[in-house]
This record gives sequence, C-alpha cells and structure tokens, in this order.
Amino acid sequence: ESVAFTDDEARAAAAQKLKISIYFATWWALNVVFNIYNKKVLNAFPYPWLTSTLSLAAGSLIMLLSWAARVTEAPKTDLKFWKALAPVAVAHTIGHVAATVSMSKVAVSFTHIIKSGEPAFSVLVSRFVLGERFPVPVYLSLVPIIGGCALAALTELNFDMTGFMGAMISNLAFVFRNIFSKRGMKVTSVSGMNYYACLSMLSLLILLPFAIGVEGPQLWAAGWHEAISQIGPHFVWWVAAQSVFYHLYNQVSYMSLDEISPLTFSIGNTMKRISVIVSSIIVFRTPVQPINALGAAIAILGTFLYSQAKQ
Ligand code: 3PG
Repeated sequence: ESVAFTDDEARAAAAQKLKISIYFATWWALNVVFNIYNKKVLNAFPYPWLTSTLSLAAGSLIMLLSWAARVTEAPKTDLKFWKALAPVAVAHTIGHVAATVSMSKVAVSFTHIIKSGEPAFSVLVSRFVLGERFPVPVYLSLVPIIGGCALAALTELNFDMTGFMGAMISNLAFVFRNIFSKRGMKVTSVSGMNYYACLSMLSLLILLPFAIGVEGPQLWAAGWHEAISQIGPHFVWWVAAQSVFYHLYNQVSYMSLDEISPLTFSIGNTMKRISVIVSSIIVFRTPVQPINALGAAIAILGTFLYSQAKQ
C-alpha cells in the first residue's frame, strides 16, 4: 500500500519535472526567435519605446481574442485583483522598456550578459528590501556573478552607458516583478497564462502615454518610411514576429513561474540567456573578444554555483 503510494508520488514528480522541462525548452526557443526579430527591427527602426508598446499590444490583442473565442477561459477578476496587479505592471513595464532600450544601443549578447546577473539582484533585493537572510555560500556565489558581468562590461568593445544601465534597471525591475507576481498568483485563482495576459494589458496602458511622450507619432512615421524603404514591405512581418513572440515566450514563462519559485525562475532565465547569447552572436556576427567571453562564462558559472548554494 505505502509502496504504491510512493510509486504514485514518484510518477507525479516525474510528470511534473517533464512538464517544467517542456515549458523551459519552449520558453527558451520562443525567446531566441523574439530576440533575433527584435534586434532586426531595432537595427532598421531604432524606436524601442514603440516596439515595446507593440509587444504588449500584440499580447493584449491575442488574449482578448482568445477569451472572446473561448479558446481560453477569461479570468474572473475584481478591482482588488487589478489594484494588486498595478505595482507588478509598473515593474514589468520598466523592466521591459529598459531591456529594449538597452538592446537598441548595444549587441543583444551584451544586454543578455548583463541580464545574466539577475539572480544577484534577486539576493540583494530579498536581503535588503525584504529582510530575508541567506547562508554564506549564497553570498559568495555573487562574487563570480557580479565579477563576471563586470569583466564582460569592462571589456565590451561597443560599450554604451545607456545600454548597460538599461540592462541593470531591467534586472532590478524584473526581480520585483517576479517576486510580486508569484505572491499575486498564490492568492488568486487566476492561472499563469491569464495572469500574464492581465499584466500585458495593464502594462500597455501604463507604457503607451510614455512611449508617445518619449518618441511619438512623428518620429515613428518618419522612421517607419525609412525602414520600409531600406528593408522592403516585409519589414512589417519582422515587427509582427517580435511582438507575437514576445507575448508567447512571456506567456510560457509565466506558466512556469506559476509552478516554480521565483529563484528557480531566475536561474532558468539565466540558462536561457546562454542560447540567446550564442545564437545572437552567430546571427548578427557580433565580434567577441576572448576576455569578454570569459566574463560571460564566469557570470553564468556563478549562477550555477548560486543555484547549488541555495538548495
Ligand atoms: C524585454 O523586452 O522584456 C526583455 O527582452 C526581456 O528580458 P527577459 O529575457 O528577462 O525576458
């Protein structure tokens, strides 16, 4: 009897593991496609505030349509839910636009090397803002994470302060977003997929006025004409791809976050960056110096050590 129970438990655990692995693989693959199209778009059309807005708009539209068509059941939400979601949406908006501004200024690989430092931000925020304490090895693992990122930043050939700061701000904002999203998902019956849908919609409302203020329709129109004349009419498909893939990868990442801790999420996210860094270096023929690659490798190794130290 008890043996059968353990068997069932083991089977359930294995099934859960398989499910998370499939989520992670899908998340990473979708993210690679997003990053490539996003950078292709930004190279021809350097308006990150608009492209960030379009990503959120695409996600909102997809989800509104799938609720209307009953492909997914619309969540039951009240004012309390949206109020609790507001700070999460502010963090999501800041993190998203900051990362996109960063990628408009520097190589995709550089943004993601800096973003591989996210677990370090997670520890610092948990320690100094939430008052959580960690065992010493956790703090020690921050040395290679921060040191590796610093080495990569210092040896980056096309270093740009806005590009660097954008990635750093994104790290900080997403740590808050992840911790508060997880808390939010725990207290509501809204699934990860629908939680992210609501997050997109609220973020879109927050971002739109700022995007108009910072860039605005005049620059967009001029830039759009230039991009079309440079790339051709199929430029519009690149924009559509970056927008739709942004939504899809985030949706799958939230389906994962619903089932794992924010910490496991951050680690999965850093591992994801290896595939993004490698594929973007190949696609965009980014020149890499060995010392620069070493910095990235140390930072990512630091994340492995961190995950070990946390267990
Ligand atoms: C964004 O635009 O939000 C960033 O590209 C996302 O960064 P992530 O890789 O942390 O999701």
